[in-house]
Amino acid sequence: MAKKRVFSGMRPTGPLHLGHLVGALGNWAALQDEYDCIYCAVDWHALMSEYKTPEAIRENTIDNVADWLACGIDPERSIIFVQSHVSEHVELALALACVTPLPWVERVPTFKEQLKELKEKDVYTYAFLGYPVLQAADILLYDAEVVPVGDDQVPHLELTREICRRFNAMMGSEALVEPQAKLTETPRLLGLDRRKMSKSYGNFISLGEEPDAVRKKVMSMITDEKRIRKTDPGRPGICNVHSYYGAFAGDIAPKVAEECKAAERGCVECKEQLAEILNGVLEPIRSERKVLLDDRARIEGVLADGAEKARETARPKMEEIRALAGFWSR
Ligand code: TRP
Ligand code: SF4
Repeated sequence: MAKKRVFSGMRPTGPLHLGHLVGALGNWAALQDEYDCIYCAVDWHALMSEYKTPEAIRENTIDNVADWLACGIDPERSIIFVQSHVSEHVELALALACVTPLPWVERVPTFKEQLKELKEKDVYTYAFLGYPVLQAADILLYDAEVVPVGDDQVPHLELTREICRRFNAMMGSEALVEPQAKLTETPRLLGLDRRKMSKSYGNFISLGEEPDAVRKKVMSMITDEKRIRKTDPGRPGICNVHSYYGAFAGDIAPKVAEECKAAERGCVECKEQLAEILNGVLEPIRSERKVLLDDRARIEGVLADGAEKARETARPKMEEIRALAGFWSR
C-alpha cells in the first residue's frame, strides 16, 4: 500500500531551539518511517513578518535546514525544500484566495494575536492576512493527507479544510484532498524564564549552543521560588527544570521528582545534571550541524534536489487547477 503523504513547514525566522526539537523536529524525523514526508522551509511566510530584514531569511534557511539534517531528517527518504523555489505555492494561494471569503481569514485567531505580539514588526499587511491561505496552498498542492503541527496551528488546518471543500464544490471537482492535522503530543516547553519560548525574549537554548552556554543558561533557570534551602521539600510539578527533565530524560524524571519532594536533591545539583543531559542530547546535533555548515554547497544541493522533486508533484497539480479555473493550460 502506498504511504500516506505528510507535509509540514517551518518559518526560517531565527535559530532553532530545544522547543523546535521536542515540538516538531523529533516528530518529523520519526514520521519518516511511516509516511512519505515533505518538509518545507516556508520563506514566503517568513517574509510576511521579516520583510524589513530579508537577507536574514536566507541565512536562517541554511542554518535551519542544517539543523533538520542534523536531527535526522533524511533527504534520501523525504523531500526537503524551500517554499520560494517552487513558485506554484504562490500561484495556488491566489487561486484559493479567490474562493476564500474575507471573514474566514479575519476570524483566524492567530491573526489578531500576532498583530498584538509582533507590534514592532508591522504585520498589518495584506499578505499577512493571507498567511493561512498560503499555508493551505502549501498543503493542498501536494495532496498531503496528514499535517503534523502544534495545537496553535489547529485553526489554520481547519481553514485549510474549509477552503479545500469550498474550492472543490465550486469547481465541481475532487482536485484537492482534505488534509488532517496530526497534533504533536509533547507538551509545549516553556522558555528558560517560564515565558513562551521566543526569539524576542532570548529565553531559549538553540540547537547549536556551545556546552558552556548551555550550562550557564540552565543554571539561570528559575526553579521552585518558595524553596529556599535544600532541606525544604520542592515542588517539581511547578518547576520548569523538572519539565525539562520530563522532555529530555523521561526515564529519570519520576526519580528526580521523588528526591525533590523528599528534599534529597538540591536545585543546583539538579540543574547541573540537567545541563549534562541537554549537552548529551545536543552534542551529536551540534557536531553534525558544524560539519554541514562548513559545506554550504551540500545543503544547497539538498535543497535544489528537493525543489526538483517537489515540482514533479506541484507542476501537474497546478496545471489541473489552472484548467479548473478556466485558464489556458500553459
Ligand atoms: N504556520 C506554520 C507555523 O507557524 C508554518 C507553516 C507554513 C506550515 N506552511 C505550513 C505548517 C504547512 C504545516 C503545513 O508553524
Ligand atoms: Fe526543580 Fe530540581 Fe529544584 Fe526540584 S530539585 S525544585 S525539580 S530544580
